[in-house]
Amino acid sequence: MIQLKTEHANVATDAAVESLAGYTTRLRQVNESGAYDAPESSLNLPGDEALLARVKAVATEKVTEALKYSIVVGIGGSNLGTKAVYDALFGQRDLLEPARFPKMLFAETTDPEWLAQVVRLLETLAGPAEVLVTVISKSGGTTETLANFEIIMQTLREKFGEVTDRVVAITDEGSKLWDAAAAKNIAHLAIPAPVGGRYSVLSAVGLLPLLSVGIDIEELRRGANDMLGRCLSEDNIAAQSAAVLALQQKQGYHINDNFFFHPELESVGKWYRQLMGESVGKEQSLDGAIVHAGITPTVSLGSTDLHSVGQLYLGGPKDKLTTFVSSGQSAAISVPGERVFPELIPMINGKSATDIMIAILEGVKIAYQKADLPFMEVVLDAVDVYSIGAYLQFKMLEMMYLGQLLNVNSFDQPNVESYKIETKRLLES
Ligand code: PA5
Repeated sequence: MIQLKTEHANVATDAAVESLAGYTTRLRQVNESGAYDAPESSLNLPGDEALLARVKAVATEKVTEALKYSIVVGIGGSNLGTKAVYDALFGQRDLLEPARFPKMLFAETTDPEWLAQVVRLLETLAGPAEVLVTVISKSGGTTETLANFEIIMQTLREKFGEVTDRVVAITDEGSKLWDAAAAKNIAHLAIPAPVGGRYSVLSAVGLLPLLSVGIDIEELRRGANDMLGRCLSEDNIAAQSAAVLALQQKQGYHINDNFFFHPELESVGKWYRQLMGESVGKEQSLDGAIVHAGITPTVSLGSTDLHSVGQLYLGGPKDKLTTFVSSGQSAAISVPGERVFPELIPMINGKSATDIMIAILEGVKIAYQKADLPFMEVVLDAVDVYSIGAYLQFKMLEMMYLGQLLNVNSFDQPNVESYKIETKRLLES
């Protein structure tokens, strides 16, 4: 079970949490209805059995033992959640286990060098069954996604002929991508209309690609569902965490540094950056006033970033509320008693890597307290698929509550559109 510790956040949250009781009632109603008719409808994804059945049916048809590369073509809300889960479970292992398949590859921005490498890799494949291309775009009209998709498809076409049966499109029903996929008889799955990209990881957007590489999506959903039940009943850690963020923001802590003491959670941090950045970074309040609201989310990795930005964090401006994220997981790996340099840092002799990491985290927390820097702690049982499901749900709920406390719409992103429109205009000329 995920623990939230707020005793060093230096704020009293009871009143703010109480003020969210009415919104919790609304969330419960949305969840009890099971319908996709409210901005908060993403809450219904982890309990949606029909969705799970549709995803499994497509996976059964498309994924065989031959699959080597499951390529996710999408950006922002259409790939960050999937990448968060994949990297947490397999990211580092991919480097060390080159022979483990299937692997997931991501084509997000139109990075020419990366695309050229992907093309070279695809040219080595023995048959089309070795690749699955999942093109994901809620709007169905994102420049980077469609450019990357066409480059990948041209490579596959040149090598294997027509391979549209190796494609799945995931998009809003009725989008241009939806219609185009249907017209070409390409498999397609829908994103429920009210579910925004950054809340969509537990829809087909995340479930299909994750299942294609063998990740236990039922366990991911179970973690999310358990967290939902917990927060919507008595133990609402999402409301508590949102209250700390909102109260500290009002006291000038405009940055929330998410400090992960598991490097494999870096992509989870990047997913959260989008979730927080787009949900509460708003020009207008719910009443239409110009407010330029927001908290800037940053991601740090323990202990690596202590050796880069630790000085800034401890000695620089007091504008950051830190959320330390760690887990109770341990691995049986230790510094040997018999060492090459026994006289250097002798206190590590025989210590496990876990014990050293714990000492570093505890040391950091003491240093933060001495410097009077506020922080929260989130402790996972382990970095496993269940805990990640619970964490993702915890944070999506937190963001819904935070929007309420900051009086902004947690579900829209009007300003993201402006760059997309300008890009298309430039490409037309
Ligand atoms: O939240 C957003 O709107 C964006 O970050 C989108 O997720 C991103 O632009 C991708 O959009 P789409 O899924 O429509 O291709």
